[in-house]
Amino acid sequence: MLRGPGGLLGVSVRPAAALAVALLSSLSHCSLLEPGDPVASALSPYFGTKTRYEDANPWLLPNPEAPRRDPNLLEEACTPVQLVALIRHGTRYPTAKQIRKLRLLHGLLQAHRPGNDRAGGGGGGGDLGARLADWPLWYADWMDGQLVEKGRQDMRQLALRLASLFPALFSRENYGRLQLITSSKHRCVESSVAFLNGLWQHCYPELPPPDVADMECGPPRINDKLMRFFDHCEKFLTEVEKNDTALYHVEAFKTGPEMQNVLRKVAATLQVPVNNLNADLIQVAFFTCSFDLAIKGVKSPWCDVFDTDDGKVLEYLNDLKQYWKRGYGYAINSRSSCTLFQDIFQHLDKAVEQKKRSQPVSSPVILQFGHAETLLPLLSLMGYFKDKEPLTAYNYKEQMYRKFRSGHIVPYASNLIFVLYHCKNAETPKEEFRVQMLLNEKVLPLAHSQKPVSLYEDLKNHYKDILQNCHTGQECELPKVNNTSDEL
Ligand SMILES: *[C@@H]1O[C@H](CO)[C@@H](O)[C@H](O)[C@H]1NC(C)=O
Ligand SMILES: *[C@@H]1O[C@H](CO)[C@@H](O)[C@H](O)[C@H]1NC(C)=O
Ligand SMILES: *[C@@H]1O[C@H](CO)[C@@H](O)[C@H](O)[C@H]1NC(C)=O
Repeated sequence: MLRGPGGLLGVSVRPAAALAVALLSSLSHCSLLEPGDPVASALSPYFGTKTRYEDANPWLLPNPEAPRRDPNLLEEACTPVQLVALIRHGTRYPTAKQIRKLRLLHGLLQAHRPGNDRAGGGGGGGDLGARLADWPLWYADWMDGQLVEKGRQDMRQLALRLASLFPALFSRENYGRLQLITSSKHRCVESSVAFLNGLWQHCYPELPPPDVADMECGPPRINDKLMRFFDHCEKFLTEVEKNDTALYHVEAFKTGPEMQNVLRKVAATLQVPVNNLNADLIQVAFFTCSFDLAIKGVKSPWCDVFDTDDGKVLEYLNDLKQYWKRGYGYAINSRSSCTLFQDIFQHLDKAVEQKKRSQPVSSPVILQFGHAETLLPLLSLMGYFKDKEPLTAYNYKEQMYRKFRSGHIVPYASNLIFVLYHCKNAETPKEEFRVQMLLNEKVLPLAHSQKPVSLYEDLKNHYKDILQNCHTGQECELPKVNNTSDEL
């Protein structure tokens, strides 16, 4: 039933699709990074949520449009009948807040530039300080987290790979039935459009894509209640988002021994007083290395500020924040995503019903565009990447081999895909529905069985509590304050 390892190379790309892929690869290579000549940094594994998709999925480096068929993907006896995908936006610019901090740090380096006010030591470190002071600060406020060209490319290429992997679902006939939903954030809307253009090129390689408004499937629909559920959950907002003490461990780690060590090293390298630096400025320097790499495809001098030990500490700082704000840190983080979880299963239920009645599936492909903050709570709700011990300010060493590493889970363009299959053959005389999940195009073993595939009923049964008893309205309601006793 499962494809054996021998089937790995048997990518089922139809000749027409293969031609489309070949045509497109020759077209898209004019922009940005030349495939085959990837710029990398030794720090890349530690960029957390700012990780390039291809760094988390290195098989893409030689050819980002070649689909990789996970050997565990079902085939033959089972026909994929529906695909529900949650997709994080592609590579983006830094936010205005990050740019402001970078400007601050850059100004600090210019003020301490060797030869500027004091005699520079002239050592290698001084050179780096000078190089950074001269580095053109090319980030501007208007960029504020918007999708970059590389981010559009992330989406187009993902669309092409998925279309090649599931040709029957991403067919011309289904193009008009595509259902696209997106967060209202510019980078997500733009991502959904770029993805749609990629699919268009897959289906109609000979035609330039029309304006999305004129596409048969219509423009992507904005739905923040679904894709940005965290903004609509009172309990989350009060107890976590706006609560100064909720991220206690993040703050404690910033002033803890590991971070202080990084601060001292960086201050010495850049020849600035350690008191002028803090964890936030260090983090923005580290992110600038990641942004220059992901956006411009250049290895920036900011990367030379850090060694891999520093990278690991800064990765932990980023993961700590994700853990306490989006992951297992507080139950409400994941409970607030119940609606999204249920929405996915409502789509699957509907497809199963239609299939059982021998009707065509009305929405064979559902594509939902959101954020790392959309995906992490949902994966936590489903029980993925849970470590035995919580991530705290005090167990950095013990968490060295943690499961919760956001760079592996939610890089740019990360995607969680539910594939519903209809199976009927000699082995399974009864008609059956099965589900597989893919995270970043790799089959994600089911949490309840560790198997690559599950009967749909078994999966629903495993998550029955969330499906039946998790109601966002109740979950997100703040506990009623009984003030009657105080008033007396
Ligand atoms: C803020 O977070 C702390 C730590 O989890 C918690 O004890 C406190 O009740 C929270 N405050 C509010 C207003 O929810
Ligand atoms: C509020 O507190 C008072 C006194 O503790 C109690 O008698 C009353 O039932 C409470 N009301 C609610 C709605 O919980
Ligand atoms: C107590 O609760 C009542 C009803 O919810 C509300 O109208 C009132 O403003 C509250 N009083 C205080 C002091 O919070």
